[in-house]
Amino acid sequence: MKQIQYFCIFVALLSLCNASSFLFTNNSQSLSYEQQFNELSKKLEGQRYSQQKDFKYFPPQFFEKKGLYSSGIHGNAMNVNNTFFYHLVREYVGCPDSNMFVTNFVLSALLDCAELGTIEIDQDMFEESIDAILEFRDKNQQEGIPSYSFWLQNYKNGTWYSYPENLQKVAQMITFMPDWVKNIFIKMGLPFVAIADKIADAFHLPPDTDDSSVNIALGIRIMNSPFIRQSIKDKWIKSNHNVQGYYQLLKKYSYKPFDTSNSSVNTLDSRTYFAFHNYLSSLNQTYNFSVFTTWIRSTDDQIPQMIEIPGNVNNFDCSVISNTLFGLHHVLLNSNQSEINQIFDKELQGLYLNSTNTILYAINSYISKTHPDIAFLYYPSVYDFYWFVARNVHLLNSNYDKIPNQLIKVVADSLNKSMKNQGTIYLLNSTLEDKNGNIYWQEFLGIYANKTYKEDVTFSTVMALNALIDTWTISKTDEQGKVKRIFDSQTPQNVTATIQKGMQAILKKNAFSKSNQNAFFSGSFKSLNTLSIYPVNVNHYLNGTEFDPHTEVLDLFHQVAGVRGVINKEEYSEMLKQKWFNQTVIQYFVGYNSQYISYPYWSSPAITFSMGMSLISKYQSIENIQQQD
Ligand SMILES: *[C@@H]1O[C@H](CO)[C@@H](O)[C@H](O)[C@H]1NC(C)=O
Ligand SMILES: *[C@@H]1O[C@H](CO)[C@@H](O)[C@H](O)[C@H]1NC(C)=O
Ligand SMILES: *[C@@H]1O[C@H](CO)[C@@H](O)[C@H](O)[C@H]1NC(C)=O
Ligand SMILES: *[C@@H]1O[C@H](CO)[C@@H](O)[C@H](O)[C@H]1NC(C)=O
Ligand SMILES: *[C@@H]1O[C@H](CO)[C@@H](O)[C@H](O)[C@H]1NC(C)=O
Ligand SMILES: *[C@@H]1O[C@H](CO)[C@@H](O)[C@H](O)[C@H]1NC(C)=O
Ligand SMILES: *[C@@H]1O[C@H](CO)[C@@H](O)[C@H](O)[C@H]1NC(C)=O
Ligand SMILES: *[C@@H]1O[C@H](CO)[C@@H](O)[C@H](O)[C@H]1NC(C)=O
Ligand SMILES: *[C@@H]1O[C@H](CO)[C@@H](O)[C@H](O)[C@H]1NC(C)=O
Ligand SMILES: *[C@@H]1O[C@H](CO)[C@@H](O)[C@H](O)[C@H]1NC(C)=O
Ligand SMILES: *[C@@H]1O[C@H](CO)[C@@H](O)[C@H](O)[C@H]1NC(C)=O
Ligand SMILES: *[C@@H]1O[C@H](CO)[C@@H](O)[C@H](O)[C@H]1NC(C)=O
Repeated sequence: MKQIQYFCIFVALLSLCNASSFLFTNNSQSLSYEQQFNELSKKLEGQRYSQQKDFKYFPPQFFEKKGLYSSGIHGNAMNVNNTFFYHLVREYVGCPDSNMFVTNFVLSALLDCAELGTIEIDQDMFEESIDAILEFRDKNQQEGIPSYSFWLQNYKNGTWYSYPENLQKVAQMITFMPDWVKNIFIKMGLPFVAIADKIADAFHLPPDTDDSSVNIALGIRIMNSPFIRQSIKDKWIKSNHNVQGYYQLLKKYSYKPFDTSNSSVNTLDSRTYFAFHNYLSSLNQTYNFSVFTTWIRSTDDQIPQMIEIPGNVNNFDCSVISNTLFGLHHVLLNSNQSEINQIFDKELQGLYLNSTNTILYAINSYISKTHPDIAFLYYPSVYDFYWFVARNVHLLNSNYDKIPNQLIKVVADSLNKSMKNQGTIYLLNSTLEDKNGNIYWQEFLGIYANKTYKEDVTFSTVMALNALIDTWTISKTDEQGKVKRIFDSQTPQNVTATIQKGMQAILKKNAFSKSNQNAFFSGSFKSLNTLSIYPVNVNHYLNGTEFDPHTEVLDLFHQVAGVRGVINKEEYSEMLKQKWFNQTVIQYFVGYNSQYISYPYWSSPAITFSMGMSLISKYQSIENIQQQD
């Protein structure tokens, strides 16, 4: 008992001692590309779990998987006046997490740097990280099928299920916790920690298209890379060779609103349905329509207490879809015609086209302003989304001559057009300027009650600049095999000027010595708007018993509440006026910050640093060309 209490106090005070960002730094000094890059490279190394650590109550220690880059689960604690204490809680109180996702993005950024000639990859460290990532493959699938989960799996009674070690241990501990300790968490603005034992069911995540698809993209880059040694390539391909098997799964679990034969695939999360109702109801219902979903599971084949979709109904998320396209584009650009014919059948082509059109709708309708919380259900940062799309645009534009079929060219052209128009307008329109004329971006972390602590400024600036550069440049490889970025000759002056002034901010000596936190990623239940209180036409318990969705109390663990098929416009607008789960529908996005609701999100300075390194590498390669001219 005593040990557990020590542990709680330790968690409560976790890393307050890391508060080194209060040290004085000189604002006005600028660094060279190389100096800033080296700074970041050092900082990134500090974020790597260089050895395995087991979870221990005493002396307190969290589980860390060797080879992974760190991320922490933080809480969006807030009070009425957004006082400094809550800034400290958001910034410094976190539970370290070992997921494959963050490491995947870091390795991908390191590959960018190697290609652009700014680093030499440490092969031993890279191999350790790949070893760690490969352990996240879904072991319920036949060997070689690259279906991945966010967390490592444990085995019980014939099934492999997700087991986030640190979260599970904290949840177990809460069961024994005296109320005074729980009250500390509540006072700190982290009430969800105090009930962690009651929400532990939400940790039983199925494998997902997001983790799986970014793994495919990374792996294909590794296979093609002259900077990665053969033993790493051999390992990757051994675990991931059955790409066709993976796309069979994505087809099977995709959302098909007009397929009346199976209620599991024509039913959608009521939040996603709400955000995309206008789009879905404009479709020609005589055509097959299908979209990549997030979870590689359906309501029908969940395994209680082991593999469960949070809320029991699948959804789609435009950021996840963008990553799914990124994986598929790597496959399509790197396979021979007979492989393509096998994998890219009529059904996957339709799924690909329909999913792309869903993203285009999101960009062109500026859904990032009206409902970022639902359109990007797992990615609170809209700059994540724009960059995820932009890197598809960059990949396709840079390999346009290699595109193997007309449909992919159509997709390339339309993504390119949207990002260069509405996407760019959004990014340029969201800039802020400091007193020296440098441009930066910020999102929402720490902004409330007319105060901002600029918690996500560095991250947002890095991501928005990566999105602009990936949209407007292509990669060209020179005779020495070195990659350079080249601007599209049509790039408007306001885009190049914005990038240049943004880079000035990134090259400030203290740009990365303030907050490097971000809300790179989150669960789907967060803002008031994401609590599933929307119209539904599927309303039963998992055991089959129906309930009245207007009056019943919401129970995410036992209810299946979703929207089957597509509801016509008049009927849906009537439904929006009714009460669901005894609540009035809140149609307008009320923001991510609230003194009334706090929720967990993943922050990873390692992402800020590695994406910063990738950004500097891209930009200096453009500058070098201009100097040669
Ligand atoms: C800050 O940096 C600028 C430019 O390098 C320099 O002129 C100035 O003296 C520095 N100020 C301090 C307090 O170090
Ligand atoms: C918030 O600020 C107002 C005005 O400064 C003050 O009256 C109030 O006590 C503060 N509330 C809290 C909880 O700090
Ligand atoms: C183990 O699995 C079998 C078959 O899948 C099932 O019938 C049984 O209830 C499970 N036992 C436990 C303890 O979960
Ligand atoms: C419906 O489709 C899903 C996904 O393909 C599948 O898992 C499930 O078993 C199907 N349900 C029925 C009743 O056929
Ligand atoms: C819907 O598709 C059918 C079948 O091809 C076609 O005949 C019809 O014109 C389409 N309707 C609209 C509104 O596009
Ligand atoms: C719709 O999908 C079904 C099953 O995949 C297929 O048999 C049918 O031909 C498709 N219809 C159209 C219009 O593409
Ligand atoms: C969806 O895909 C089908 C092919 O399966 C295509 O006929 C249809 O036009 C697509 N619709 C949209 C909106 O992308
Ligand atoms: C651009 O920003 C202005 C002011 O912030 C806003 O009123 C306008 O709607 C924005 N336009 C777009 C296309 O985002
Ligand atoms: C924020 O500023 C607005 C406008 O100046 C004011 O009405 C509001 O009360 C302020 N809110 C807080 C929490 O201080
Ligand atoms: C940027 O320049 C383009 C072309 O000159 C113009 O159409 C666009 O409105 C400008 N965008 C912003 C946000 O200033
Ligand atoms: C189904 O589950 C609900 C909620 O857990 C419960 O109230 C109901 O009695 C159950 N029905 C049956 C038939 O077991
Ligand atoms: C439904 O909401 C009303 C008012 O919002 C409240 O008075 C009532 O107790 C609620 N009913 C249930 C079953 O929670």
